[in-house]
Amino acid sequence: MSMMDTMLNYLDQDLPEVYRSMSGRELDERIQKAKKALGDDLVILGHHYQRDDVIQYADYRGDSLQLAKTGAKQKNAKYIVFCGVHFMAETADTLAAPGQTVILPDLRAGCSMADMADIEEVEEAWDVLQETFQDTVIPVTYVNSTAAIKAFVGKHGGTTCTSSNAKQVLDWAFRQKKRVFFLPDQHLGRNTAYDQLGIPLEEMVVWNPKDGKFEEQRGPLDSVRMILWKGYCSVHQKFTPEQVHRIRKRDPEMKVIVHPECSFDVVQLADDSGSTSYIIKVIEEAPAGSRWAIGTEVNLVQRLAQEHPDKHIELLSTTMCPCLTMNRIDRPHLLWALESILEGNPIHVIKVDEETKHWSKVALDRMLTV
Ligand code: 13P
Ligand code: SF4
Repeated sequence: MSMMDTMLNYLDQDLPEVYRSMSGRELDERIQKAKKALGDDLVILGHHYQRDDVIQYADYRGDSLQLAKTGAKQKNAKYIVFCGVHFMAETADTLAAPGQTVILPDLRAGCSMADMADIEEVEEAWDVLQETFQDTVIPVTYVNSTAAIKAFVGKHGGTTCTSSNAKQVLDWAFRQKKRVFFLPDQHLGRNTAYDQLGIPLEEMVVWNPKDGKFEEQRGPLDSVRMILWKGYCSVHQKFTPEQVHRIRKRDPEMKVIVHPECSFDVVQLADDSGSTSYIIKVIEEAPAGSRWAIGTEVNLVQRLAQEHPDKHIELLSTTMCPCLTMNRIDRPHLLWALESILEGNPIHVIKVDEETKHWSKVALDRMLTV
């Protein structure tokens, strides 16, 4: 176990003592044994940002869209253990069959971006938007949001999107209404609308929930088509235009590819942008000897570098950019979760209440059929 793991485990008051000091070898043996004992009753899903020592146990790995679809197909598994973050486990529970149990090995694995859209603030904003734009707005939320926000969107005729289907979802949304209220990531909304739908910045505005006002208004309100919630990802916010300039100055041959959760300026300067699975595909298809700086979570970038030794791959930033919350899921927590299932008393079960589940499923199902 690394020093960081030991520290995080020490800080986690709930993790039973027995798992805190277990050697890597014992953890591995017991995880394998638990997986074997649970057999087809268990499926482990892992997001691409998950650490290597955990993702090795995933039956399926993928980006948010792939995992939502894969989770929904696992009708025979009694237990879905989600090595991702809280909103992903909520989505899995929303799409799960009756009787299935979804488990997040460490409940501290939240998402700072999802936490930036509070349901009461969203409802207040919606009232202002109805007054300002009447019935011309449809809400769309990035799946990186709580089940309550997804339910809100479902109730108001809208849908969800991920970074790999944002363009198709926005195309659909603009066929329904003149304007889109996009939650909670302003960057994914702005980047997709500008780059893939050709909507100019003059037709976008940012909604600041803290002071209840529009910001970054560049044209008349009447011409606004995208209303962007003022949320962002604390990991992708760390990539800057200066980093792109510095890389290009050092190595003009280097290609820069970033996730669309990065800021508008970074995405505009980059050679390419896309979801985690898109970035993986581009790197897989790149010729040997090509050189890449990647602007996304560090675990994925390091894994790509290891898997493609014939290509030069580095993180766009010189400082590490881990998704600290997702990284809280480590082997001791995974083992604790698996053994709790075997003992007949599963821990950290994620259960969305029935009313919220109904409406967030409406939103997710709309996305899955777009
Ligand atoms: P994707 O999995 O859609 O690429 O999103 C990245 C992310 O931030 C997950 O939270
Ligand atoms: Fe949330 Fe950002 Fe982590 Fe994704 S990378 S889970 S958006 S904090």
